[in-house]
Amino acid sequence: MKGTTFSSNYWRKWSCSFFSCVIGFTFGVIMNYQGIIFENIRVSLDVSVFDNLNSTNAASMILTRWPHFEKNLLSLVNISTGKAYVVPNIIHFIWFANNDKKEMKFINYVSISSAYKIHKPDVIMFHCNFLPSGKWWETLWRSIPLKIVYRKKPSTIHGQNIIHTFHKGDVAKIEILMEYGGIYLDYDVLVVNSLNPLRRYDACLGKEKPPKLIAGIIIAQKNSLFLKMLHESYKNNYRPYDWDYNCARVAYQIALQRPDLIHVESRRLTTPDWQDRKQLWREIIDWSDLYVIHIMGHFDFQEHTPESIKSLNSTFGEVMRYLYYGSPKLILK
Ligand SMILES: *[C@@H]1O[C@H](CO)[C@@H](O)[C@H](O)[C@H]1NC(C)=O
Ligand SMILES: *[C@@H]1O[C@H](CO)[C@@H](O)[C@H](O)[C@H]1NC(C)=O
Ligand SMILES: *[C@@H]1O[C@H](CO)[C@@H](O)[C@H](O)[C@H]1NC(C)=O
Repeated sequence: MKGTTFSSNYWRKWSCSFFSCVIGFTFGVIMNYQGIIFENIRVSLDVSVFDNLNSTNAASMILTRWPHFEKNLLSLVNISTGKAYVVPNIIHFIWFANNDKKEMKFINYVSISSAYKIHKPDVIMFHCNFLPSGKWWETLWRSIPLKIVYRKKPSTIHGQNIIHTFHKGDVAKIEILMEYGGIYLDYDVLVVNSLNPLRRYDACLGKEKPPKLIAGIIIAQKNSLFLKMLHESYKNNYRPYDWDYNCARVAYQIALQRPDLIHVESRRLTTPDWQDRKQLWREIIDWSDLYVIHIMGHFDFQEHTPESIKSLNSTFGEVMRYLYYGSPKLILK
């Protein structure tokens, strides 16, 4: 058993108290929306976990499990045989609501059905505290096999109250993956190619500009040391008013410290990223080799429908038509 400990502090010249505590969460969201990210606020890490696994990347996992594999044979493993996978083929979605009136949107329907049709998981686990409502939920559960699992919103982490719903979602994702392993997706992630190549790593997250990891898509096996460290890193270091501190910026620092624990996908999970979001709505990019397109819909207040996506001449329009109508081509009257 190997103890893994490190501490680091970044950008000490800025104190967290002013920005992250006084101005508060909402302002943080607005600042992020404007592309001004709180990158200057220091990130502190003091994480200590036991490395029970002693094998933290896919290659060593394979060698542990199939010792007859030589290291130099690993590159020849045909991953479509499944033997190289360490992450189970489970896709997780989380639906937290205050009651059973929260309506499932068209975009959520397309997201969950794209995970089913394009990635082809063994099972989709739908973790919820209330069932969704509305016609898209009716359409979804009738057309796609879902394993519905009751799950309470987490209210605390390491004894600290979790205030914002986004943070409850972040903590729940980490805890669900520590329980089952698999692929966690936000319900505004559109899957355009199979995520299987990423199931070879103990943990995988996508990188956004400026350097931070985004927790909208997490692929990890349940014993992933990275997940454990991320969970531990909330200890005495949870910032309730700083919306992407723990899951994005601390996660990035852990990845910098322990690159052996995680595969950071630089492009195919996060294109276009938050800063380039106009490429989603106003331009057309080549999305053919991406794994997913993350809509980050909480700032797009327009409600999309099968009708509205027909004539959207944008990356978003193409991807939505591809997933819903089967072809990215514009559908003009
Ligand atoms: C842990 O890994 C080291 C080097 O990678 C190896 O020498 C040691 O035998 C391993 N221990 C266990 C218990 O697998
Ligand atoms: C990998 O497996 C697939 C499906 O079984 C097969 O079509 C493909 O040719 C194999 N690739 C290699 C490099 O063996
Ligand atoms: C769609 O946009 C592209 C440029 O992004 C343009 O070349 C094309 O003519 C547009 N198509 C329609 C039907 O407006």
